[in-house]
This record gives sequence, structure tokens and C-alpha cells, in this order.
Amino acid sequence: MNRAQGRKNKSKGQGKEKRAARKAERARIAAAQLLVKQANAIHDPLAKFPTFSKFERGGLSCRLDCKRVKDLTPEVLEWAIDLCQKNMKPFYEKSSQGWHGNEKREEMTEDEAWYLIAYDTLRSDKPAGFSHFRFDMDYGDEVLYCYELQLEEEYRGKGLGRFMMQVLELMAFSNQMLKVILTVFKHNPRGFEFFKKCRYEIDETSPEDSFEETFDYHIISKTNKMKPLQKTTL
Ligand SMILES: CC(C)(COP(=O)(O)OP(=O)(O)OC[C@H]1O[C@@H](n2cnc3c(N)ncnc32)[C@H](O)[C@@H]1OP(=O)(O)O)[C@@H](O)C(=O)NCCC(=O)NCCS
Repeated sequence: MNRAQGRKNKSKGQGKEKRAARKAERARIAAAQLLVKQANAIHDPLAKFPTFSKFERGGLSCRLDCKRVKDLTPEVLEWAIDLCQKNMKPFYEKSSQGWHGNEKREEMTEDEAWYLIAYDTLRSDKPAGFSHFRFDMDYGDEVLYCYELQLEEEYRGKGLGRFMMQVLELMAFSNQMLKVILTVFKHNPRGFEFFKKCRYEIDETSPEDSFEETFDYHIISKTNKMKPLQKTTL
């Protein structure tokens, strides 16, 4: 075989490899989409874990409830939207995005939204904190995306926030999501410190500042250690 023929055969082989890699990647994404669909079809992802539906520590006694947005009472949904505005408006106003109350309301009421809510059982089920989350695809991966974690001020610093993140991780990983992921403003160092304490790390999809562009947020995540990485490099 001459050199030219050899090169031709090599590139034929590489073409075959690339096609096989693309096929494997398509199959991986289809499997990931199926997992997301299955997770979204569950009536209550917390029902299998009764011990995680109670939080009794630091003088608090809360029950946790997990529901789709359509199953929340209008009062609880309005409370969540108000709390989000109270806690986050100053951070959005400091960001390049600005605060757009109507857009946030729309995001929080979309059909795909799930809510994990903590109710204070010592105070007639007063809502203490919530997380808006979704089972979704993100850059080709199956994830639980935490859109919000918001606690009323009087319930902070008692371990409830960490516990709610653990519950999200439990619901994510028991449904075979690859990671729990979220966005945090760089100018919310207290939020960022909290997530670091919960062992969240900068995600590979987090944008990096450059000369041309800077970003005022990090994308952070925790990966499901039980799940082997299957991504194919194309
Ligand atoms: C951020 C938030 C959810 C944390 O919940 P929390 O119940 O107060 O936190 P926890 O008590 O579970 O704390 C867990 C760990 O994080 C640490 N932590 C909590 N808040 C912190 C803060 N402001 N600065 C530094 N560390 C903090 C705690 O010291 C604790 O660490 P330890 O176990 O080593 O003591 C809550 O403070 C909140 O709702 N803040 C306003 C909204 C917000 O910023 N949300 C996140 C934006 S995406």
C-alpha cells in the first residue's frame, strides 16, 4: 500500500469512528431525555422517602411537601413569588439582567415547575421556605435544575437550607439525574458560601470571563457519583 492509500484508509477509519461516536451520543441523549420524562411523570418524588419529609432541628419543626406548580394553592404560590421578590430583587437589580417581576412570575408558574416547600408545623403550617426546581435537559445532560432556594429570614441559619438541598439531591439521584445544577450571582457571596458548604462546585458549563465579555453569575453543580460519565467527545 502506498502512502496516499494508507492515508485514505486511515481517514475512512476515522470517519467510521466519528459516525459511531455520533450515534452513541444520540443514543445517550435519547436515554437522558427518557429519564427526564420519567422523573416528570412521578406524582410525588418525595413520597418514597418519608424520613426526608420532616425537618426537626435547631428549634424548628417543619414538614416538607413536593408538588407541581398546578397543585399549589394560589395563596402558597403568591407567597413564593413574593418571597422570591423580597430576597432576590436587590441582587437582580445589581446585575446586568435587571429585575423583571412579570418574567419571574411567568418562569415560576410555567407547567414544568416543581416546588419543594417547607411548612412550619409549630406555627399552623406557615410556609418557611421553598425551592422551585425542574427535571430537565441541560447541555445534553439529564439534570435537576434548582431555579430557586428561598427561605424566610427567621428560618435561616438553622440547617433547613442545607436539608432542602439534600432533599433535592435525593430526588435527583434516585431518579438517575446526572447532576443538581443552579445559577448563583457572583455578588451574592453569602449564597455562594452556602452552596460551597453544601459541596457544590463550578460546573463545566459555567461561562468564564474574558477580555470581551464578563459574567455576573456562576453555574454550580453537584454530580451524581453513582452515575458513570458517558459523554462522547465528537
Ligand atoms: C442561602 C440560604 C438558602 C441558606 O439556607 P440556611 O438554612 O440559612 O443555611 P443552613 O443553615 O442550612 O447552612 C448550611 C451551611 O451553610 C453555611 N451558611 C449559611 N448561610 C451562610 C452565609 N450567609 N454565609 C456563609 N455561610 C453560610 C452555614 O454556616 C452552614 O455551614 P455549617 O454547617 O458548616 O455551619 C438562605 O440563607 C436564604 O434563603 N437566603 C436568601 C436567598 C438566597 O440567597 N438564596 C440562594 C440564592 S440562589
